[in-house]
Amino acid sequence: MTGNIISVDGFSSTGKSTLASKLAEHYNFYYLNSGLMYRIISHFALNNDCIINNMIKESQLINQLDNLNFDWMIDNKGNKCLSFDGKIFGEEMYSFEISDIVSSVAKLESVRSFLFRQQKKLAVKKSIVVEGRDIGTVVFPDAKVKFFLSADLDIRTMRRNKQIEENNISFDSMKVEDNLIKRDKIDSERKIAPLKKAKNAFEIDTSKKSQIEVFDIAKNYIDSNFKF
Ligand code: DC
Repeated sequence: MTGNIISVDGFSSTGKSTLASKLAEHYNFYYLNSGLMYRIISHFALNNDCIINNMIKESQLINQLDNLNFDWMIDNKGNKCLSFDGKIFGEEMYSFEISDIVSSVAKLESVRSFLFRQQKKLAVKKSIVVEGRDIGTVVFPDAKVKFFLSADLDIRTMRRNKQIEENNISFDSMKVEDNLIKRDKIDSERKIAPLKKAKNAFEIDTSKKSQIEVFDIAKNYIDSNFKF
């Protein structure tokens, strides 16, 4: 059993994390970034010899994930946050190395079904805002409220560059746009759980909107149509 679920799906760098975390804070829900889970698994694969020369050793990876779990933890600022194998991961998950491989890792059926089970478990008995690519379509098709975010590629590239700069992430700035294009293609064309808008999702084009404007649109949509 879960509580209320709000899904926020969409392309990379459309403002999903900002909106989802603001909504979670406003409604006092848990916040789950499922993209971060795929990044953590990619990081794990890179560090455990499961990716050699861009080739992913799927069965070796999935065997090593056995008995490892995602869970909720309280960080040193007192915030509820996601942990994997008892550890908390941060901005280092947004490096070029991980961004370059994550969509290929996310294509694998075994990885998706491992993370599907983990996502379901993290939502048990909780009201939660979950962001990702397949949340409103596959993971939580019964989510009470669904959003789908889109934005122009040049705006997304600018936002990503800003995030990289502000957080001192190791990333070749020339490769930012290429990486977004490559991931959009893999994420929306893959066979299992491709990125697409759920029929009943409310779409927001964030290209020309500030973070506050996007939040206000989402909050007004929720408050006028749903009761928690
Ligand atoms: O949201 P993000 O850019 O951090 O996500 C990283 C990658 O993870 C993205 O390119 C595709 C994958 N992903 C996915 O396949 N399904 C999800 N629900 C979330 C992310």
